[in-house]
Amino acid sequence: MEHKTLGRSNLKIPVLGLGTWGIGGFSAKSTEGDDLSVAALRLGLDLGMRFIDTAEIYARGHSEEVVAKAIRNQRDSVFLATKVSAENLTYDGVLKSCNASLKRLDTAYIDLYQVHWPSSRIPISDTMKAMERLAKDGKIRHVGVSNFSVKQTKEAQEALSSLDLASNQVEYSLNERSIENDLLPYAEQEGITIVAYSPLARGLISRSSGDRWRLIDEIASKYHKTRSQVALNWLIGKGPVVAIPKARDPQHLHENAGAQGWRMLKEDSEALSRAFT
Ligand SMILES: NC(=O)c1ccc[n+]([C@@H]2O[C@H](COP(=O)([O-])OP(=O)(O)OC[C@H]3O[C@@H](n4cnc5c(N)ncnc54)[C@H](OP(=O)(O)O)[C@@H]3O)[C@@H](O)[C@H]2O)c1
Repeated sequence: MEHKTLGRSNLKIPVLGLGTWGIGGFSAKSTEGDDLSVAALRLGLDLGMRFIDTAEIYARGHSEEVVAKAIRNQRDSVFLATKVSAENLTYDGVLKSCNASLKRLDTAYIDLYQVHWPSSRIPISDTMKAMERLAKDGKIRHVGVSNFSVKQTKEAQEALSSLDLASNQVEYSLNERSIENDLLPYAEQEGITIVAYSPLARGLISRSSGDRWRLIDEIASKYHKTRSQVALNWLIGKGPVVAIPKARDPQHLHENAGAQGWRMLKEDSEALSRAFT
C-alpha cells in the first residue's frame, strides 16, 4: 500500500482508507449484516487499507461498535479516524463525545479526531481547546475537521496553539470538483491532508454512461484497470489527497485496493480533469 504523510506530522497513512457510512446502519442502528460488515472491514485491512473512517453519528454509534469488532487484536496497526458531531462541539461536549467514541471503539486512543461539520453556534476556539486537552490526555493523536471552507479551516488552525490541524475531510471525486477552486490549493500550501469522501460519487462512477464516461473507459482499458480504479487513482495522484471509499462487497474491496501502486500519466489525469469539469 502506498502511504502519504498526514498533515505536517511525520506519520505516514495509507492513501486509501475504508469509509463506514452504512456500516451498522445509516441514520439508525441496524445489527443485521454486522458479520458481513466486520468481514468486509477485515478484508479491507488485509488488503492494506489500514485506515478506517467512522463517526459518532453513523448508525447512532453502532458503526463505531462494528469497527471495534473489526480491529480487535490489530488495533495498533490501524489508523483510526472518527468524528464529533456539530451539536457536540462545546468544550464539555467534545470531551463527552470522545469518551463515548473511545468506549464504543473499545480503544484507548483515536488516531484522528475530526469535527464532522462546522457549527455557527459554538465558537471553534471552545472546540479546539477540548481537542488540545484530549491530545494532552493521550486520548487522540491528531486533530482534523470535515466540511470546512478555507475561511473555517483558517479559523480552526488559528484556534489551535499546541497542535497542527492535520486534515480536512471533504467531498471530492471526478464528479464533485469544487474544492479545486480554493481548498485544495490552500491545503497543499498549508500542509493539510485532504481526506476525500464519496470518492466514487456514491457508486455513480461505475454506473454512468455518456461521452465523458467513454474517456474514463478508454483510460481504464489502457492501464488494464476499472473505472473505479481510475477514478481513485486520479484522486490520490494529487499531492495532499487520500481517499476513503466505502465498500462492503468483497469484489469492490479488491478493486479499490488495486487503485494504488501505479500512476496514470499526467496527460491522462489532465484529460480526465478536462472531461469532468
Ligand atoms: N465527512 C462527511 O460529511 C462524509 C460524508 C459522506 C461520506 N463520508 C465518508 O466517506 C466514505 C465514503 O463515501 P460514500 O460512502 O458516501 O461514497 P463512495 O465511497 O463514493 O461510494 C460508496 C458506494 O460505492 C460502492 N462501491 C465501492 N467500491 C466500488 C467499486 N469498486 N465499484 C463499484 N461500486 C463500488 C459501494 O458499494 P458496496 O458497499 O456494495 O461495496 C457503495 O454503494 C463514507 O463511507 C464515510 O466514511 C463522510
